[in-house]
Amino acid sequence: MGKYFHALLLICSGSCFLISPLMAGDVWNDVVMVREDTSVTLSCFDSPPTTSVLVTWKMMSAREDRWSYLLSANCIDGQTDGRSSRVFGGRTFGISADASLIFRAAAAAQGHYSCVIEQDDKKLQERIVLLGLIKLSVTPTPPVTVDSTVRLAAQVSPSSVAAWGTWVSPSGEQLHTEISHGTGSLLSKLPRVTSKDNGVYTCRIRVHGNSGTSVSEHRVNVTVSVKAVFSFTDVTHVVPRSLAALSHSLVTLTCPPVLGDYVLLYWEYPDSKGMELIFQFDRWRRSYTNQTKPHLHLIDPASLAAAGNFSFLLSPSLKDGGLYLCKVFLDDNAFNQANRLSVLHGYTKSSHTALDLSCMYSERSQVKAVKWSYVQDPRRFLQSTAVLGRITTSVVLPVTPETAGQYACTLYLKNGKSVQYMYTVTMASIDPTFSPGPALPPAGDVSFSAFLTLPPAGDVSAFSYVSTFSFLLFLIPLIAVAVGVLLWRQGYCLTRRSVEQSLSHHSGEVENIYENPDDLRQVIEMHSTSFSPSIWQFLLLPPAVLLNLFLLPLLSFIVSLSLSLLVVLS
Ligand SMILES: *[C@@H]1O[C@H](CO)[C@@H](O)[C@H](O)[C@H]1NC(C)=O
Ligand SMILES: *[C@@H]1O[C@H](CO)[C@@H](O)[C@H](O)[C@H]1NC(C)=O
Ligand SMILES: *[C@@H]1O[C@H](CO)[C@@H](O)[C@H](O)[C@H]1NC(C)=O
Repeated sequence: MGKYFHALLLICSGSCFLISPLMAGDVWNDVVMVREDTSVTLSCFDSPPTTSVLVTWKMMSAREDRWSYLLSANCIDGQTDGRSSRVFGGRTFGISADASLIFRAAAAAQGHYSCVIEQDDKKLQERIVLLGLIKLSVTPTPPVTVDSTVRLAAQVSPSSVAAWGTWVSPSGEQLHTEISHGTGSLLSKLPRVTSKDNGVYTCRIRVHGNSGTSVSEHRVNVTVSVKAVFSFTDVTHVVPRSLAALSHSLVTLTCPPVLGDYVLLYWEYPDSKGMELIFQFDRWRRSYTNQTKPHLHLIDPASLAAAGNFSFLLSPSLKDGGLYLCKVFLDDNAFNQANRLSVLHGYTKSSHTALDLSCMYSERSQVKAVKWSYVQDPRRFLQSTAVLGRITTSVVLPVTPETAGQYACTLYLKNGKSVQYMYTVTMASIDPTFSPGPALPPAGDVSFSAFLTLPPAGDVSAFSYVSTFSFLLFLIPLIAVAVGVLLWRQGYCLTRRSVEQSLSHHSGEVENIYENPDDLRQVIEMHSTSFSPSIWQFLLLPPAVLLNLFLLPLLSFIVSLSLSLLVVLS
């Protein structure tokens, strides 16, 4: 019966009792929430009856399903005829002057209490109250030492009466509170307390009752002793991890597998001993400290991290290698997890004679080997030069079918893990390909690809015909002029000695070069044979012909110019 009644009481409100035969008529109900181990007073009526009535108190504990008689008293004009008390079940119950029941709210006190008002053996009214208990605790017991994690806990029984609840700070701020409806617990924590956390904390609970929802508030004192600083003596070290990653890829830095209160992430610089705190997150206070690493994030801060399941995502550059120490704190316990990270960064540099493929790596202490290999033929020996934290191999330029292909730089950790940077060397152009992660485009690659790039075959347009033709039209007279100058200089030096002879030999024979077909032929041959003339042949020419040699190139230049102009215009 008790359970049935209880269920009705909790599930229904208002109109419910109208259909319940148990609570029909003058029966009304309420929920009273009191703090465990405090004195409780349950009143029987709001306005005292003006006539003489008999008041009887009964109780039904949470474990029972029948009513037990407690006390009764005659009440005249709202005043009992005398105080009385009774020990029942090891507990003392008293009745006050206004017929209220007074007792101490021990754990066993939780249950239903009924007050029946009778007149001449006739039941006038019955009031049934569900007594809920709330137990508050502050752990560790105040005064607490600085830096310890204070737990503010509230335990409500029965668990179903608490509709909602929260812990409130001394300044009135709602604290992040975790509510477990199944167990009726409300928990909030104050990690790493300081003297600023001193004060009275309030647990505010809304309870379901037939007369509506009411809020009950319960207070606890938190005092922080500044005389001592808490230090974690219980530290668990999780097996350290050894990791390797390509620069700018995504790496997961794991934290100990516990649901913690807060997390601190320390970073020891690669290949050095300096260490700094780079991240902290307190899931109770929801506070972050500013990060020094922009490429570091908590994984899923909205759900995982909010629940205390911490881990980080890092997109590292070469210098982000090193030791990442994740410390998770839960109450009085600390858990440490080290992630030692080596970052591999590949890049290329080219000169006119070679393409240098380099890879650099950090956190050398855990690196077993780093080497370059030719993917298509892993047995091929590649000459490489290694300095501290860098290994370079060179591909001689120009790239041949033999040297083109994929080159891999593989870093092996002492634990057997490896990571690979890939670079594809092609003959036509140097287009870097990276695998598995992206990398920065190597500097100096632009001039290199320009040097290597050949004009694409089968892509000769009409325009290039025109330009080649015009170019030739200009080239012919230029060559002619050059030959002319050469001949003139040679001719000048030589004719000074043999001018008399030449003049006497050819004088009067040729007036105009165009009037003599032989001379003309000779000159044309000069043009066509270009740079292989016989100087001595020219010495045989009359001076008039030599002079005409200058006119001819000029004329052909003018002709060519007009021809090319025509071509361009058309
Ligand atoms: C808190 O502690 C102070 C000083 O000890 C005391 O005066 C105050 O009554 C306490 N408050 C509560 C709610 O316990
Ligand atoms: C944390 O979350 C991950 C991913 O959802 C899960 O695999 C792991 O078990 C969780 N750890 C704990 C302690 O709950
Ligand atoms: C720290 O971070 C918060 C939120 O990201 C920002 O508002 C604040 O300006 C930052 N402070 C400094 C000193 O960078």
